[in-house]
Amino acid sequence: MPRHFLRDDDLGPAEQKQVLALALELSQDRFARRPLEGPRTVAILFDKSSTRTRISFATGVAELGGSPLVMEAGASQLGRGESIADTTEVLTRMVSAIVWRTFGQERIEEMAAHATVPVVNALTDEFHPCQILADLQTIAQHTGGLAEGDAALAGRSLAYLGDGANNMAHSYLLGGATAGMDVRIAAPAGHRPDPAILARAEQIAATTGGAVTVTEDPREAVAGASAVLTDTWVSMGQEGEDGRGEETFSPYQVTAELMELSGGMFLHCLPAYRGKEVTAEVIDGPASVVWDEAENRLHAQKALLTWLLDHPDERTAAHAR
Ligand code: CP
Ligand code: NVA
Repeated sequence: MPRHFLRDDDLGPAEQKQVLALALELSQDRFARRPLEGPRTVAILFDKSSTRTRISFATGVAELGGSPLVMEAGASQLGRGESIADTTEVLTRMVSAIVWRTFGQERIEEMAAHATVPVVNALTDEFHPCQILADLQTIAQHTGGLAEGDAALAGRSLAYLGDGANNMAHSYLLGGATAGMDVRIAAPAGHRPDPAILARAEQIAATTGGAVTVTEDPREAVAGASAVLTDTWVSMGQEGEDGRGEETFSPYQVTAELMELSGGMFLHCLPAYRGKEVTAEVIDGPASVVWDEAENRLHAQKALLTWLLDHPDERTAAHAR
């Protein structure tokens, strides 16, 4: 059985720490690991737009000694109705891992069910777990470093403001709880997290010493938080939906005043919309670590791929959920 990374809780707490420690190692010596030497090929497929994910996976696979095969999935026969199962059968006979950005989570779950090589979620409508690894690495990097182990993340708080029902919010819930963090989501009514994902995050937090809060009050969420995070109010595929404008989300805009209440750092997965979910003053200001965060996509994903290829026979946490 290959290991897959389809959602944040596919890595248990100890496993997540191993991946983050390796990410730190790779950030200090980019060419320290060559698990794809050969070169072995990794397929990197996109059903949606991407800048960071595309560049970081393509660069990362090359730096691991492999050959990245970047494809617009819509330009393959998938786009003309070939099934996910048949596509996966072909891919897994040739490549060493598959990275896919797609729409519904059920699509990547279906691919994983047919794959004999690791499948990695490069963003679905429900989760963006690779981004959260990079974010956790970034928070640790700016709060004393992963070398200090648990102290870097466990017990620290992160506050996410905005669309509480999108992929980033869901991944912060699961990934942050796995890291033992105090995860606070501030979102308007009607944009709260999926109850099943929230329940899973609470279940994880109970085992890691973390905590999970959902509130409509952004000030309550950010008070004393080590990190304040946000994301676009309109995720890919939601363009044109009603109720996604300032009338709903403006109280959740990350402003200098909210950052002062936090006293922590600012993160954004990017792309950012200045004047919407965050002011230019904040994202371009001294508390912002968004460029480190973007760079850490490279290190975190190289660590993840290395780790997955190193752990082919163990069962994933997914089997326990
Ligand atoms: N943060 C992120 O995933 O960026 P891209 O959509 O540009 O890949
Ligand atoms: N929530 C955003 C994240 C982009 C990286 C989206 O899905 O469009």
